Amino acid sequence: MNRVYIKTYGCQMNERDSEAVAAQLRARGYSVVENEHVADIVLLNTCAVRDQAEQKAIGKSGYLAKRKRNNPDFVLGVMGCMAQNRGTALLEKLPDLDLLVGTQKFHRVPQMLDQFIQSQKGLGPRPSTLVDLDAEEGSEETIREHLGDKQAVSAFVSIMQGCNMHCTFCIVPKTRGPERYRSMDSICEEIEELVANGTREVTLLGQIVNSYGMRQIPYKNGISPFVQLLERINAIEGLERIRYTSPHPRGFQKDLVEAYGRLEKLMPYVHLPVQSGSDSMLKRMRRPYTRRRFLEIVDQLRAVQPEIALSTDIIVGFPGETGEEFEDTRSLFEEVGFDMAFIFKYSERSGTKSAEMDDDVPPEVKDERNKILLDILGESSLRRNEALVGSMQPVLLEGPARKGKGIFMGRNPANRKILVPASPRLVGQTVPVRILEATVSVLNGELCLSGIDEEETAVLPVSK
Ligand code: SAH
Ligand code: F3S
Repeated sequence: MNRVYIKTYGCQMNERDSEAVAAQLRARGYSVVENEHVADIVLLNTCAVRDQAEQKAIGKSGYLAKRKRNNPDFVLGVMGCMAQNRGTALLEKLPDLDLLVGTQKFHRVPQMLDQFIQSQKGLGPRPSTLVDLDAEEGSEETIREHLGDKQAVSAFVSIMQGCNMHCTFCIVPKTRGPERYRSMDSICEEIEELVANGTREVTLLGQIVNSYGMRQIPYKNGISPFVQLLERINAIEGLERIRYTSPHPRGFQKDLVEAYGRLEKLMPYVHLPVQSGSDSMLKRMRRPYTRRRFLEIVDQLRAVQPEIALSTDIIVGFPGETGEEFEDTRSLFEEVGFDMAFIFKYSERSGTKSAEMDDDVPPEVKDERNKILLDILGESSLRRNEALVGSMQPVLLEGPARKGKGIFMGRNPANRKILVPASPRLVGQTVPVRILEATVSVLNGELCLSGIDEEETAVLPVSK
């Protein structure tokens, strides 16, 4: 009885944390399964950024708790941001939880589970909920283990934890704590190990990656610690592609812009959250930049890398958002022509500064503003995808596509998802693909191996 299913809500950091927990559990003899119905233990790794995300996890926990009533051996745990945000108050709603684990304690999950299972067998004190929500010095260095049993062509690497900003709408500084950075050595070692196991692309993760190492690692000839880290990773042999998410417009300085002109592994794609295109709104959100500055960064990036793809996060319906302020967001959104965007309707989070403001934009206005931006995005994504039809793209093949049937999924440098019939032997390789067809979200293509028989393509000429 030690089959564990981990369900992850929210962002890539959560996915990464779940991977690390899974790897640690495997190392301890647990088997990690892909389906909650065959699991004896279910762990929910939760998100607190919007109310909807919390409600989903609460609903799921309530549903799973019923399973405990038929099977008292079934173990249910809640980890991550919602656990941290709501703390033991969550137990009033969900009294059947066995484990409640905060964001700095993921690495303790295997030990806590062992302890819980022992006590369940009558080998320890009677089981009640095991709770650990404390801060822990050095916990940023514990998110190292990877899944291990399947080759991850593209892997997430956590470079830091927490956030020191004070965006008025955001719960993350509360759930993730202050910024803590991993050492460059440890990050590079982890990437070298990944590459030795077949990884070709890494995505560096942090709440604000470009504040990596601030006030701890000195600038070198005007180069910030984050760009120094990129330089070191760029030099790792066998690694082909570097991505990161997310940077903040505030620290997006010249050294980072210029890195796009000189670090050949740095992929031409940036996710740069703008939140709003209105200066008065940015002030109320406590985002320390202006619309003009944001557009200037976009121009600088495009000057260095004309092909660069851009995506962003936007919140509509923040307290007091006027029609005029939204119009500023709409016009910026149109002007930049993002390749991708996450558009969120403002969700009040108790404990944040903006929760003291009146959540006064009616839901139907939030819906309408959301739809206006989604329509613009749909059009600009389709236009950009269609422009690629007929072109040849270097695609790093990540694995079989969900729809199967000999179709494989990969991405071009600009992070566009591309589906292509291929052979499993090509997974992990960067192959030339001719784009045949475009939809809003995906491109379909064919391998372009000019004269090379597909069966022989394990030694395909690799282009980047
Ligand atoms: N720095 C992090 C941001 C984490 S939150 C990152 O870039 O990964 C992710 C996004 O959720 C934010 O950029 C913001 O657009 C959105 N968000 C945060 N708090 C929100 C709230 N209270 N309501 C709606 N959207 C929110
Ligand atoms: Fe949240 Fe702002 Fe930090 S959006 S994660 S407080 S940069």
